[in-house]
Amino acid sequence: MRINRYLAEAGVASRRACDKLIEEGKVTVNGKRAQVGMEVDFSDHVAVEGRAVRPVEKNVYYLMNKPKGYVTTVKDDKGRKTVMDLLPKKAERVYPVGRLDYDTEGLLIITNDGDLANRLTHPTNEIPKTYIAKIEGHVKEDDLAKLRSGVIIDGVKTKRCSVRIVEEDKESTKISVTITEGRNRQVRKMFEAVGHNVVFLKRTKIGDLSISGLNRGEVRTLSQKEVFYLKNL
Ligand code: URA
Repeated sequence: MRINRYLAEAGVASRRACDKLIEEGKVTVNGKRAQVGMEVDFSDHVAVEGRAVRPVEKNVYYLMNKPKGYVTTVKDDKGRKTVMDLLPKKAERVYPVGRLDYDTEGLLIITNDGDLANRLTHPTNEIPKTYIAKIEGHVKEDDLAKLRSGVIIDGVKTKRCSVRIVEEDKESTKISVTITEGRNRQVRKMFEAVGHNVVFLKRTKIGDLSISGLNRGEVRTLSQKEVFYLKNL
């Protein structure tokens, strides 16, 4: 492929900006100064200001059961563990799709497919995400009804969602919540809005894709069928 496309696909900059870098002599191919418009392939060693660059060769898709105590970022300024630490070594240049809080567990997709990541996170696509929230004490039917029809968090009403009790005992209630938005700490804030504290939160599903079968901290690759399903969700 053309060198500017190779560099752009490697995430260096736009094709036009890459041409500029080439003109400025900042790009080398197999140790020699690159020329605008030249062709390169994956057997070539391409470097920008001495740093080797390579486009993503194929899309990869991981499904992780994120444990508590990990941040959903590629790197953390505070030096905390990130979900990347749980991936197989030599994993491609992938990143998490959307975010789960430090204290939230459960289903996380990690990929290098930017289109899928955008599709799953763009609010207009209203992708359903299901969580199990454990709440201290009991939750009144009235409060469940409020959660279903929408509560105000950060000054904006949440969209209609489905909420049902899955388990109850003397001390706590487990509630399944399916939301089609992805606002910051949304489920925790929704319960706060009706006066309840979430003591445990786990994402169990995105659409019908479920975390079942994966233990905490485990990762597997998605099947082609699952990838197809997500792309068409
Ligand atoms: N809602 C939350 O409160 N936290 C998450 O991590 C995800 C959804």
